[in-house]
Amino acid sequence: MGKVSQKNNDTEENTTEFNLVRVKSTWKCKLPQKVNKDTVDCVSPAKIYESITETGTTWTVVSPIIFTYKVTETQGLLDPSNNTLLLGHITDPQQLEDIKISNKPIRRFIVIDQEVFKIYGIKLTKYLEVNNVVYKILALPTTEENKSMEMALNILNEVNNFSLDRRMEPIIAIGGGVCLDIVGLAASLYRRRTPYIRVPTTLLSYIDASVGAKTGVNFANCKNKLGAYIPPAAAFLDLSFIQTVSRRHISNGLAEMLKMALMKHRSLFELLEKHGCMLLDTKFQVDNSLYGHSSLKAASQATRIAITTMLEELAPNLWEDDLNRLVDFGHLISPPLEMKVLPALLHGEAVNIDMSYMVYVSQESGLLTEEEKQRIISCMVGLELPVWHEECTLELIEKSLQDRLKHSGGLVRMPLPVGLGQAEIFNNISYEILHRAYKKWCDELSISSDGNCDP
Ligand SMILES: NC(=O)c1ccc[n+]([C@@H]2O[C@H](COP(=O)([O-])OP(=O)(O)OC[C@H]3O[C@@H](n4cnc5c(N)ncnc54)[C@H](O)[C@@H]3O)[C@@H](O)[C@H]2O)c1
Ligand SMILES: [Zn+2]
Repeated sequence: MGKVSQKNNDTEENTTEFNLVRVKSTWKCKLPQKVNKDTVDCVSPAKIYESITETGTTWTVVSPIIFTYKVTETQGLLDPSNNTLLLGHITDPQQLEDIKISNKPIRRFIVIDQEVFKIYGIKLTKYLEVNNVVYKILALPTTEENKSMEMALNILNEVNNFSLDRRMEPIIAIGGGVCLDIVGLAASLYRRRTPYIRVPTTLLSYIDASVGAKTGVNFANCKNKLGAYIPPAAAFLDLSFIQTVSRRHISNGLAEMLKMALMKHRSLFELLEKHGCMLLDTKFQVDNSLYGHSSLKAASQATRIAITTMLEELAPNLWEDDLNRLVDFGHLISPPLEMKVLPALLHGEAVNIDMSYMVYVSQESGLLTEEEKQRIISCMVGLELPVWHEECTLELIEKSLQDRLKHSGGLVRMPLPVGLGQAEIFNNISYEILHRAYKKWCDELSISSDGNCDP
């Protein structure tokens, strides 16, 4: 059925479907019925549809692109005997074998957050030296204020000076979400797409920024306005980096974890409710004398659930074509709020303020009981997250939701919790409810509340 005739805009249109078949070192269009699938023909998953109308010819190309990437939790990533950082991204066993037996040194270009370099620089350098790697380490102040195209271009200059081989030498990014986002964008621009590896060193980047495909920098005073959907070749996650993260930044990461809990995992919510303080105290580390073995169990359960729930939402929607996304919870109002008060609020803190307000919207809409609302807000306070902010005005909320309408195909697509650990997307929340929720939110939470928890 290669040739089809269809009416289109009142003009007769003939569309022919072609498969693409490899013939020696070239590809040829072949009608489907002429393709010999059982024998020699190597058929591409791509197709070309040729339509001829009175006004001209159109070739429609359907070219499926598959991204394969690994997210690996490992221990001792900078232990010289662990080769994950250098070879863990390679999927072809033959290529791996070839590299192992070759005596050519491995070359790697590494971009690392300046503060992380201060703590882990000696260990990293030793790791590379012992493994006989030819390397360049670029330590940069990758802060939210510096998350710009300018910094991406600085990185690209250095990458170019290193004469990187884009096929064999993935760029390695080590740092928090800012570093990973900037390096990811730089890599996706260099020679149109150079593989890169993410090594998250904050909790937020461990469970969120490392797991998906998004890269970006801030532009025109908007968060992540320039970016690409290009996943890393691999993300290598080692919880031991988190031990040096400040307590405030642990809370920051817990906000994104709480997002996944509220949207789709009641047990994760209960875990955070029960063990949030312990996770803050132990910084997700194992050998904590105060809490012993239970800290290991809670930490590994929490990160595992957060990562798998995140992957469940991202993998089928890597390019965010489906605009109905539960992972957007906490991200409707927070981007302009975060930019407005920069650097006063961290990303996760702004997200939490957004989630806190939305919990009130849910309760006002009859989707959450008063008791459930209280439990969520108490959990947030227990995680030492801000639940209210004076700059989060009704005006900002309304403007954010209007902007959302513009960029989300005319619907607001508001993810809201409907009970603990379940959520749905809503398009019909009225202004009356938004206003009532805002008033109640301010009345109840504006004299907030530092987290207060005893170990
Ligand atoms: N790509 C995505 O899907 C995605 C998802 C979520 C967030 N993000 C982005 O991530 C960014 C926030 O990431 P973040 O919270 O990791 O912030 P960050 O990168 O600014 O890091 C936070 C602070 O911690 C320091 N730091 C990092 N690792 C450390 C360590 N191991 N020990 C001590 N200090 C350490 C950094 O120097 C920095 O001062 C935002 O820009 C956000 O847009 C991206
Ligand atoms: Zn986020």
